[in-house]
Amino acid sequence: MRVSVIGCGYLGAVHAACMAKLGHEVVGIDVDAEKIAELSAARAPFYEPGLEELLREVQDTGRLMFSTDMSDAHGSAVHFICVGTPQKKGENGADLSFVDAAVSGLLPFLSPQDIVVGKSTVPVGTAARLSAIVKTQEPGVDLVWNPEFLREGHAVSDTLHPDRLVYGVADGSEDHRTIPVLDAVYGKPLAAGTPRLVTDHPTAELVKTAANSFLATKISFINAMAELCEAAGADVTRLADAIGMDDRIGRKFLNAGIGFGGGCLPKDIRAFMARAGELGADQALTFLREVDAINMRRRTRVVELTRELCEGSLLGKRITVLGAAFKPESDDVRDSPALSIAAQLQLQGAVVTVSDPKAIKNAATRFPELHYQADVELAVDRADALLLLTEWEEYRELDPYALGDSVATRRILDGRNVLDAAKWRAAGWTYRGLGRP
Ligand code: UGA
Repeated sequence: MRVSVIGCGYLGAVHAACMAKLGHEVVGIDVDAEKIAELSAARAPFYEPGLEELLREVQDTGRLMFSTDMSDAHGSAVHFICVGTPQKKGENGADLSFVDAAVSGLLPFLSPQDIVVGKSTVPVGTAARLSAIVKTQEPGVDLVWNPEFLREGHAVSDTLHPDRLVYGVADGSEDHRTIPVLDAVYGKPLAAGTPRLVTDHPTAELVKTAANSFLATKISFINAMAELCEAAGADVTRLADAIGMDDRIGRKFLNAGIGFGGGCLPKDIRAFMARAGELGADQALTFLREVDAINMRRRTRVVELTRELCEGSLLGKRITVLGAAFKPESDDVRDSPALSIAAQLQLQGAVVTVSDPKAIKNAATRFPELHYQADVELAVDRADALLLLTEWEEYRELDPYALGDSVATRRILDGRNVLDAAKWRAAGWTYRGLGRP
């Protein structure tokens, strides 16, 4: 099938490559000429494991091309809208200008039986609005909302092997004419057993925001427990292990630490609250305000703990922050808790060096005032304290004995609770976790 993918950021670039891998003929379209040039040369404009290999593989088949020209979408049966929906400046709501521009740019190139498929995360009600716009231009075109659940760092496998597919169609009917077409697009994952749910437009939009809100709530729940554990002298990691064994609760997303960041969870819960307010249902989501507040408190708590660790003063202290990305296997620093903590420490007089295997370039663009050092050995040299804030595998495996000779003082704050506290203490380190005695 010929498909177009409008927007070649995180979601779109991965989606385009994966659609080609599934056997379709794909054109990826973006207004950013630099991004298109990179992708055309089979280079990923961001770090995502497996993506460059996949780009090379599918480009060799000739099934994937990239373009800045929207007219190249003409002739595709299915058009995926994959542009970003960032938080509006100074407001909680989502900025839909990219989605609106993508749809209006596509209108002149639609043919009567085409299907427009929205994948971006949008406030509920957007699909119905866009559907009306599309139908005014071309009554035969249908719009389906098909939310995406990929995680950064696992984007390729999440797209090729999703745990569910949701098709939101205008009337919510299983007989909608678009369903067999989408089933053909996703033929391989469906044949492999991926469940598929057909819903109406608003339900499909809400599935995505509800899922991200639930994940954010789970993380803030365990971080609230971490606050309690600290007050009571208990260990939140053991608590999470024990409650997680109840399979109604589950252990996943119960890792207490510095909290969630990234381009999705924080802005999605805020946009969800804003939209609930517009719909007159704001009370239903007031708990998300608390989820957000608990999450932001983690960052302040780490700054305070670092001060305690440094005997009451941050002034002039050499602090090494291990990790800048919002999570491992990513170079994304959008709303990264690690970087926001690093910047706070610097503001309070510490001399902060940040290390990260992949995210230094992005971090330095965002916070040029911090020092950066990719080499861990050099980064920790003469440090007064180490802060492990993004749990990259190489940081989890650091040897406390070897590292002990490089630092000025053996102090470590494990912001992700991933180190073996007993091992670090045995090697002479003052170890602090979050929500652990
Ligand atoms: C999230 C969702 O997990 C995806 O399903 C969704 O498709 C995506 O947003 C999106 O809306 O596009 P992602 O932002 O890639 O994916 O990252 P997550 O793996 O969800 O992690 C988010 C943050 O939570 C990270 O900062 C991570 O360190 C933190 N986290 C995660 C915790 O603090 N504790 C945990 O137990 C798990």
